[in-house]
Amino acid sequence: MALALDLLHTIDAGGRRAQLHLPHQTVETPVFMPVGTAGTVKAVPQDTLESLGAQIILGNTYHLYLRPGHEAIRRMGGLHKFISWPRAMLTDSGGFQVFSLSELRKVTDEGVKFRSHLDGSSHFFTPEHSMDVQIALGADIAMAFDECTEYPADRARAEESLRLTMAWARRSLDHFRAHQHEVPWAADFAGRSQSLFGIVQGGMYRDLRKQSAEQLMEMDFDGYAIGGLSVGEPRDLTLEMIAEVLPMLPKDKPRYVMGVGYPDEIEQYARMGVDMMDCVLPTRAARHGLLFTSEGRLTIKNKKFAEDQGPPDPNCDCMVCRRYTRAYLRHLMQAGEALSATLNTIHNLAYYLGIMQKVRASLEKPQQA
Ligand code: GUN
Ligand code: ZN
Repeated sequence: MALALDLLHTIDAGGRRAQLHLPHQTVETPVFMPVGTAGTVKAVPQDTLESLGAQIILGNTYHLYLRPGHEAIRRMGGLHKFISWPRAMLTDSGGFQVFSLSELRKVTDEGVKFRSHLDGSSHFFTPEHSMDVQIALGADIAMAFDECTEYPADRARAEESLRLTMAWARRSLDHFRAHQHEVPWAADFAGRSQSLFGIVQGGMYRDLRKQSAEQLMEMDFDGYAIGGLSVGEPRDLTLEMIAEVLPMLPKDKPRYVMGVGYPDEIEQYARMGVDMMDCVLPTRAARHGLLFTSEGRLTIKNKKFAEDQGPPDPNCDCMVCRRYTRAYLRHLMQAGEALSATLNTIHNLAYYLGIMQKVRASLEKPQQA
């Protein structure tokens, strides 16, 4: 049995409060998933992620395949065990990272040939290979191998990219169904198995998005993602694409928008009926000294914080805001101290996870007439 989604409450705008039952965790949705690319949410220890209330984190097939290698992780009992993460995990298929990180890509119908961003070595990824890697990693949710259509893309290019992604989705699903019992922890979690999501592409063309969603639904994935967004398009286009696709998707399966967004965006999309989102923004921005707060964004390096005795965010009760001052966070950043990344990231994640907690609470309330 794959995942199960229990709808608790739905609002007119489409937003849903639900529970997503996965092998390692019952995830309260809508949920924000911190990105843990290489088996770590950068700068934050796993026990801290747990106390922050992170329910599910991401891992990347591309990175973990290159280092330390999926067969090594399989031999060690899978990704959960290897990184000591007891809650849910999702692995992205590599479809996005190969295109954004690697060099000298050559895309054919068969797959993608690319050079590692680490040592320049040559590799070939196919949908089947991505599934083999993701099965070996054994995350609760795996993603179909896709091509993230770049922006801007003219219609012919978006059509061709979509044709490839749909063919790869079919091959991903067939290979996954044939081999999914090979998950390293399969025997420990007899009740629930790994799930596979399809990814809607189609560039910024509404009818292509619709076609993509229809074709994927016919294949019958365990959940549906909307990809190819946050690739440089204006925000009203992102919104338009999400609004086009969401109402078409089956109510009883999870919907995931990949790679979004700013705090107000994740709130907006959750109210429209997006169940899952992930983004490097809170963690990456933190490492650059950008803090998201209830009073707006803070560039913590700014000289004006040099003797600021206030907490990073006066309305945040995270472990950083309860204990440290803006002046201290500024000092850590100025001095290039490792703790800087850790504290900034903890606060930003607390802020993002807090937004989703509030959205969940508001989705539970009966609506005003
Ligand atoms: N992460 C953000 N966007 C995408 C996408 O279009 N495809 C995949 N696989 N991952 C993503
Ligand atoms: Zn805080």
